[in-house]
Amino acid sequence: MKKILLLGSGELGKEFVIAAKRAGLYVIACDRYDGAPAMQVADEREIFPMLDGDALDAVVRKHRPDIIVPEIEAIRTERLFAYEKAGIQVVPSARAADYTMNRREIRDLAAKELGIRTARYLYAKTFEEFKAAADKIGFPCVVKPLMSSSGHGQSFVHNDEELRAAYEGALEGARGDVKEMIIEEFIDFQSEFTLLTVTQKNGETLFCPPIGHVQVHGDYRESWQPYDIPPAALRTAQEMARKVTSALTGYGIWGVEFFLAKNGEVIFSELSPRPHDTGMVTLGHTTNFSEFELHLRAVLGLPIPAIYLEHYGCSAVVLAKEDSDKAPEYNLMDACKEDRTRVRIFGKPSQRVDRRMGVVLCYGDLPAGYDGDSRSFGKVEKPDLTPQIDALREKCKRVASTIIK
Ligand SMILES: Nc1ncnc2c1ncn2[C@@H]1O[C@H](COP(=O)(O)OP(=O)(O)O)[C@@H](O)[C@H]1O
Ligand SMILES: [Mg+2]
Repeated sequence: MKKILLLGSGELGKEFVIAAKRAGLYVIACDRYDGAPAMQVADEREIFPMLDGDALDAVVRKHRPDIIVPEIEAIRTERLFAYEKAGIQVVPSARAADYTMNRREIRDLAAKELGIRTARYLYAKTFEEFKAAADKIGFPCVVKPLMSSSGHGQSFVHNDEELRAAYEGALEGARGDVKEMIIEEFIDFQSEFTLLTVTQKNGETLFCPPIGHVQVHGDYRESWQPYDIPPAALRTAQEMARKVTSALTGYGIWGVEFFLAKNGEVIFSELSPRPHDTGMVTLGHTTNFSEFELHLRAVLGLPIPAIYLEHYGCSAVVLAKEDSDKAPEYNLMDACKEDRTRVRIFGKPSQRVDRRMGVVLCYGDLPAGYDGDSRSFGKVEKPDLTPQIDALREKCKRVASTIIK
């Protein structure tokens, strides 16, 4: 039986573990705190800070996993190269995990080495550098710590008066030991989308139908699939995704994030070498395999005959309303009255305001004759499902608001 060491045990890890357990694998789930979502479904757990390289070494020595699956960015990723050398499969590869744990490496790779269109950007450590960078980029601009996720430490800066608070916020929101930030040109996009991309050991790179999403303060709130974008723009995004993932190497699913600018231009934003939060929509019966099942197959080098869109669908997050060391009471009664609706509660042991505690998933039938084969996306114009999806998004958000009273 293959042994998987999962580094990070959030809701995405939990669904991956469920997929792995269904395939009969043995999983050790790791995180900084006990009772994390993925631990609840794994065989064993380890509790330690994954930025601590020595603690990570000790856990790897103790369990001797066949496969290491990073679920978060904040890992002492330098150590992954040694594990890979020692014959452990690192997912998707040590290089991919290392390049994406810090915004600098991945951004420089995409923009400078691969020549992919991104927002213009500069880096800063001191306030003086920060101010100079903002002057060059112009207002409004976006500032993010080099190491952060889910909008932590991120802000939009509109004028000189806002510079100081944005700078302090980026320092405070930074995770780990990197006290540096990226300043980006603000992209006035029509929308943003995720292209779930699957790289395979024996097989070509696959793309799921695009996922549209909405973020608030840099944190995902809802997503839907498929997202209707012009075939030519989608092909551009697919090419960009293919380029970046092949430069990073390895097998697995990747969440590649793009902006669709108001002028129709496709702009690469960032990527995660693992299932993506906006991809949770696939848990709601949109595609024949969820992003977690796809990840598992790719990781194990198993064939994926095809990816089909089987329904259109959307997801809306359930956020905590208070700070407490206890989980909230969940009301499933109202949501379960709704047809074609699913609820996933992550089982986080404690809450704080706006922490993601669960997700609601809704889906609907594709119109007759709709070609759901993922290979046809980007090739042919699809019937526009925006009106149906807009209505479903409203339903999904309404249901999500009933879960925590
Ligand atoms: N340059 C930008 N212009 C406009 N919006 C941005 C820009 N960068 C980030 N955002 C917004 O903030 C969100 C989070 O930023 P992102 O770079 O994806 O960081 P994270 O790693 O926290 O997901 C994006 O999905 C987008 O909504
Ligand atoms: Mg992001």
